[in-house]
Amino acid sequence: MSRGTKAIININNLKHNFKVLSDLAPAKLVLVVKADAYGHGLKHIVSALDDADCFGVATIDEALTIKQVRSDARILLLEGFLNNDELKTAFDNDFDCVIHQDQQLDMLDNISTAKKMNIWLKYDSGMNRLGFTDRQYQAAISRLDKHDRVKEIILMSHLACADLKQNNFTAIQTERFLKLKTRQQVSLSNSSALLNKDHLTDEWCRVGLALFGVSPIAGTCAADYNLKAVMALKTNVIAIKQVDAGQGIGYSQKYKAQTDMKIAIIGIGYGDGFPWSLSQGAFVKLKNHKATIVGRVSMDMIAIDITAIENVELGDSVLIWGEDEDSQLPLETLASHANTIPYVLLCQITSRVHYQYDN
Ligand SMILES: Cc1ncc(COP(=O)(O)O)c(C=O)c1O
Repeated sequence: MSRGTKAIININNLKHNFKVLSDLAPAKLVLVVKADAYGHGLKHIVSALDDADCFGVATIDEALTIKQVRSDARILLLEGFLNNDELKTAFDNDFDCVIHQDQQLDMLDNISTAKKMNIWLKYDSGMNRLGFTDRQYQAAISRLDKHDRVKEIILMSHLACADLKQNNFTAIQTERFLKLKTRQQVSLSNSSALLNKDHLTDEWCRVGLALFGVSPIAGTCAADYNLKAVMALKTNVIAIKQVDAGQGIGYSQKYKAQTDMKIAIIGIGYGDGFPWSLSQGAFVKLKNHKATIVGRVSMDMIAIDITAIENVELGDSVLIWGEDEDSQLPLETLASHANTIPYVLLCQITSRVHYQYDN
């Protein structure tokens, strides 16, 4: 028997999702693979996506990691460069860069290089995170138009509310952005906007979460959009116990068995990234049955109720999220029980979880 805590990454499902999203998009995709490809393993993911037009990352280190395995890939730094060294590295490696503030334009003015760079000029259409305001934006475009270090200018902005079903802010942001459309190439949509087919005008849609077979839109699952979960997180049963009615289970002993019950201890806890907030009430899947979490999530273990599940044995496999041969448990469901978003659960998987890549 082993603890068996592993993330199984299904490359066929990844490719399926890429095809579905490519078919949905009006033009090309930036595949957003920051944060270790949303916890799926950056090098493996980019190696599998031969036909990608562009990868988007947050940091220069992420961009350099992609370069190691895909020297030919077009790579966009979504926050651009933060200092002169990063700018030089970006030029040396032919990275595309977002520019969202004047300080970056100043750095670009002062760089000494013979190369040219593709610039994604970011407009703040209402998110109030990164980007130029209306007046600044026009000035930035004029400044870049004349710039001899600039290859192409792509206009971009980012949506704040596309994941909310009832919202009119996406339309407001789109309208503000398109008023400034003075270029052929624009980029606005994220996964939610693409799946909702919201106001799509992009030459470049930037998709992250949907690529991994998870829906960002509250109250929906990936299957609603013909997407398939790329990750299945699994562990094993490492102990089985009888608990008498009235006894407490786990830390703080707040959970008390209402009747005599049988529990399994499984090999995953918050030390692997499983959310502590799921202590009690949420469920995992064992032999295609729902098994409710009982008592507090520990660092390395969780207790689940198996009273109604027959023939459970040590070493049996437990599905935490995703899908395997006989069952499925959408990450979206677990995230909603944990009062969080799927992005967080994927990004907080810790290094002691083993990864297995299946084709
Ligand atoms: C600027 C930008 N574009 C696109 C994305 C992709 O978003 P999603 O994963 O919701 O598709 C992100 C993700 O955070 C982002 O920061």
